[in-house]
Amino acid sequence: MVDVGIREVAALAGVSVSTVSNALNRPELVSRKAAARVTEAIETLGYVPNVAARQLRAGRSNAIGMAVLNITNPFFSDVVLGAEEVAELAGYSVIVGNSYDSAEREARYLDLFERQRLDGILIAPVGESLEMLDRFRRRDVPVVLVDRVDHDGVFPSISLDDVLGGVLATTHLLEGGARHIAFIGGPMRVSQMKERLEGARRTVEAAGARFTFIETETLNPQLGRELGDRIAALPLEDRPDGIFAGNDHLALGILQRLIGHGISVPGEVSIIGYDDIDFAGAAVVPLTSVRQPSHDIGGHAAKLLLQQLAPVEGFSLRTRFEPVLVPRQSTRH
Ligand code: RIB
Repeated sequence: MVDVGIREVAALAGVSVSTVSNALNRPELVSRKAAARVTEAIETLGYVPNVAARQLRAGRSNAIGMAVLNITNPFFSDVVLGAEEVAELAGYSVIVGNSYDSAEREARYLDLFERQRLDGILIAPVGESLEMLDRFRRRDVPVVLVDRVDHDGVFPSISLDDVLGGVLATTHLLEGGARHIAFIGGPMRVSQMKERLEGARRTVEAAGARFTFIETETLNPQLGRELGDRIAALPLEDRPDGIFAGNDHLALGILQRLIGHGISVPGEVSIIGYDDIDFAGAAVVPLTSVRQPSHDIGGHAAKLLLQQLAPVEGFSLRTRFEPVLVPRQSTRH
């Protein structure tokens, strides 16, 4: 008995029913042109393959797609490793796409993942909007958000409580005596950054200390070095005595340049990062950071995705990890 909706898809696409079935279950047998017509017909009709077709397809590609914000950041490479470990144990390969903070690059990878009919998608989204993921939901392809909560509750997610992370970081700086704290990070379209800023601003202003926010378009050591030069050139009365950097990559660049300008860290300026990547503890002044369980975030995201491909009772669809402060020599305490 052929699934009733598949006939309408075939008629609209102008192909045979078997071509639609192959496009869903054995894409290697279908031309790109026919596959594109089938995809367009599926989206037009909002067709969702039945469970039997999905389970049949689920074993077909044995691959999941994973789009991350910046693969050069050890945080994300560790997240990917955690996901790969779990996925490969279940017989799935992971195809990684580096969006590099670009919505255009992210879209190209999502198109590729769709064309390849991958069985599931893991994504750390570039922007606030999640509409670009609806096409997978319509085709019953499971998606899990990584390092992000879907506040609409549509997509399962693995994330960290980044507001708490901002509170931990700035409370630590205040306890070390800082009275002018700068949060340096961005871009603000990345919700993790917005949440860190929110936790930081709320904590510093509640303590009656001075708060400065410097938004950045990305987060990497080179930008950190440029910002370190800018901070070192500030008049003393305008220079923060506590810096909370949006992540360790940025913090390490700032640290390097402040020391290069002869500024004592943490004597004159305390610096705290975020993620606790391996290099944080190895820095010339070991960097205090807010730890994310990056490997576990990746592993848990993969488990959550596999859970939707082969449901097991009682598995939570939303997991929020807690950040952990890791004090080192770059902050007074
Ligand atoms: O991508 C920027 C940052 O957001 C990463 O360093 C990590 O902290 C993520 O949550």
